[in-house]
Amino acid sequence: MILLTGGAGYIGSHVCIALLDAGLDVVAIDNLSNSNIASLERVQSICGRSLVFRHADIRNEEAIYEILRACGVTAVIHLAGLKAVGDSNVRPMTYYENNVLGTMRLVSAMKKAKVKTLVFSSSATVYGVPRYLPLDEKHPLEPTNPYGRTKFFIEEMLRDLYRSDDDWRIGILRYFNPVGAHESGLIGEDPLGVPNNLLPFVAQVAIGKREKLLIWGNDYDTPDGTGIRDFIHVVDLASGHLSALRHLTKRGVLAVNLGTGRGNSVLEVIRAFDAVSGRSVRYETGERRAGDVAIWYADPTFAKEALGWKSARSLGQMCADHWRWQLQNPDGYRGIEVLKVQERSRDADRHRRASSPEVLSKRRIARPHERA
Ligand code: UD1
Repeated sequence: MILLTGGAGYIGSHVCIALLDAGLDVVAIDNLSNSNIASLERVQSICGRSLVFRHADIRNEEAIYEILRACGVTAVIHLAGLKAVGDSNVRPMTYYENNVLGTMRLVSAMKKAKVKTLVFSSSATVYGVPRYLPLDEKHPLEPTNPYGRTKFFIEEMLRDLYRSDDDWRIGILRYFNPVGAHESGLIGEDPLGVPNNLLPFVAQVAIGKREKLLIWGNDYDTPDGTGIRDFIHVVDLASGHLSALRHLTKRGVLAVNLGTGRGNSVLEVIRAFDAVSGRSVRYETGERRAGDVAIWYADPTFAKEALGWKSARSLGQMCADHWRWQLQNPDGYRGIEVLKVQERSRDADRHRRASSPEVLSKRRIARPHERA
């Protein structure tokens, strides 16, 4: 039984599928601050299996402890956190509270429940401005913004935790740029408001929700002048979590990159998206975005050695899957069906609060075909 924090989010919902498809049981928790429970309903219909959902916040140590015990959790995959770089500059303390304090409370509950296997969602942003490329796990950690520093501090904290108690098995996964969606088109990234990241913005231009993309700088020292990133398909990223879980058989702390090892420029992404969507994404070039680097991509060698994992999906597939999700769900999870789901979730929460933790493990989100 795996506890997945941030389970209803973009990455969480894809990790849920990887776990359920591998025959593992899942209890997903989420405070739904940037996600929608409809994603988990869809996960269940994709997998034909059910999972347990608890509306809970990682900062609530008591609630987490109860869930760990009541569900018989054996390992935790911790994805919950705030993740927008710009926002983290504006309200850093909110990031420290959610990410750092939240992880402290989660770890504390795990210690109490004697669950000592943890996979943590970190970010390649912990490397800061690349001193060399490709970025391997030995690259110095020099994050340049509050969001990146929360990930860095958590990594350090987890290393200290292991030093104090070598019973722990800890996997730290440093994500590069996750994009794409499940091939069914049923789940995907559903940004609130104006998307911060490239692919969701491109997809919204392609579908006509936004007029044009602004390319932040075309004077970088790259072949076409635009920034180069290591885009990784979210389904590959999700399978990396399963590999990490399987390889945490030995005690210790393992930090691993999840990237493809390939870099693609902003213009290459636009061209790939045009090709799969049959549309022409309009764009204009503007100033560089503060804090952006010209090029970064992963050295994925250690991931292969340590986890037996490597990414499999091409940029074309990332764009095609992202486009399918956008086309099938122009307004993301928002809509009448979703409102009904949220009402059900609130009812379920009221009911849960009134019930004892022992009956929790029996409760499941109803699958779509089981619903009245
Ligand atoms: C960003 C975060 C990073 C985080 C990652 C998650 C910043 C500075 N970094 O990385 O910490 O881990 O998301 O995926 O926010 N671009 C445009 N126009 C747009 C959007 C993006 O030209 O409207 C360009 C950017 O300048 C960059 C590339 O597209 O060259 C990718 O941008 P983005 O998707 O925001 O990812 P990162 O900046 O790499």
